[in-house]
Amino acid sequence: GELLILNGPNLNLLGTREPDIYGSATLDDVAALTIAAANAAGFSAECIQSNHEGDLIDALHSARGTAVGIIINAGAYTHTSVAIRDAIVAVELPTVEVHISNVHRREDFRHHSYLSPVCDAVILGAGIYGYELAVNYLDKTLA
Ligand code: DQA
Repeated sequence: GELLILNGPNLNLLGTREPDIYGSATLDDVAALTIAAANAAGFSAECIQSNHEGDLIDALHSARGTAVGIIINAGAYTHTSVAIRDAIVAVELPTVEVHISNVHRREDFRHHSYLSPVCDAVILGAGIYGYELAVNYLDKTLA
C-alpha cells in the first residue's frame, strides 16, 4: 500500500528556516528518510508539500482509494484549519499528525491543534525522526 506524506506551509524552507527550532535537515532529507522508512516497511510513499490550504485538502481527497495511511504535518494550519480537519475525517484513513518541534514548549497559540482529535496518533518534538516514527506506527497498526 501507499502512504501519503503531507507537509504544509513553510516546510519547504526546512533547513534554513529557524534552524534552532527545526534543525538543519531539508524537506528533501525528510522525504528521503520517510520514503526509506516506508519502503523498509513494505509501503510505497508519496510526499507532497504545499503552502496552500486548498491544495492540502485536494491531496487528502486524492488519498481516498489510493493510500492506506496518511502522515500530515500541516504547519501553522494545524492551529487554524477546520477545513483540513474535516478533510481528514472525510477521507477515513489511519492518520498520524507530526510536528518537528514540541509545540507545547512554544507559544500558547501552538498548543491547540484542530487536527489532533481526528488523528489516530500524534508525534511531537522528535525532530524529523517523527516522520519515521509515524511510518513505524502505521506499519504496526495497519492490518
Ligand atoms: C510545526 C509547528 C507549527 O506550529 C509551525 O507553524 C510549523 C511547523 C512543526 O513541525 O513543528 O510550521 O508544524
